Amino acid sequence: MKKLVVLSGAGISAESGIRTFRDMGGLWEEYDILEVASPQGWENNPELVQNFYNERRKQLLGCSPNKGHYGLVDLEKYYDVEIITQNVDDLHERAGSKKVLHLHGELLKAQSSADPELVYEIDGWEIKMGDTCEKGSQLRPNVVWFGEPVPAMIPAMEITRQSDIFVVVGTSLNVYPAASLLDYVPRGVPVYVIDPEDVSVPFNVNAEVIREKAAKGVEILIEKLTGDKK
Ligand code: OAD
Repeated sequence: MKKLVVLSGAGISAESGIRTFRDMGGLWEEYDILEVASPQGWENNPELVQNFYNERRKQLLGCSPNKGHYGLVDLEKYYDVEIITQNVDDLHERAGSKKVLHLHGELLKAQSSADPELVYEIDGWEIKMGDTCEKGSQLRPNVVWFGEPVPAMIPAMEITRQSDIFVVVGTSLNVYPAASLLDYVPRGVPVYVIDPEDVSVPFNVNAEVIREKAAKGVEILIEKLTGDKK
């Protein structure tokens, strides 16, 4: 089976009711990135950071995968599909995708603020101040903040190097190192970009753009790749 690799971003979850970051009305319009998504922000005001992610988690528990997520599951009939997601939600997994790699962590997990290797499932929507890891340190969201290392980039680069088809869906490609994965797509591999807006794809990548929202865009992609119509 050929390997189809997907790099997904906030846009694939938009039709599930989850806000993106940089669109009009996106989260970074309302919140200061450095206050809620950086180690300095955590140091200055951990309660604010904890509340921000608690709210996101509470909201996520009330959301469901959309046709975009399910379409990528359908593609597993034809391809060895591997999803590299920048999203911290679990909607790819809930839709049934078998191989999902989270570059920026997972909202439904907590990690020790002293040791990022200590990761725990969260029961419910809330991490409370005072909830601690087995070493006694405060638990924080298992999310990669700006300025923190992205260890999942190593396997992500390897997966990307093995791709026969590469699909970008719902990401502005503004955040590095995630966006640099396009540099690892082997030459000659077809690249598809699904996004309702213009995305600045690097000039050396010859991408076919499907200018649609994820639900419709993935349907068009399936039709193009397999001839299957819904
Ligand atoms: P952005 O908010 O930067 O980009 C979202 C993209 O989704 C844009 O290109 C939109 O045009 C597109 N979009 C909007 N609605 C869509 C829909 N219904 N279907 C498909 N696409 C749609 O989000 P990301 O690129 O994911 O990191 O942002 C990358 C990282 O920046 C995030 O993982 C997060 C953020 O700060 C951290 O928190 C570490």
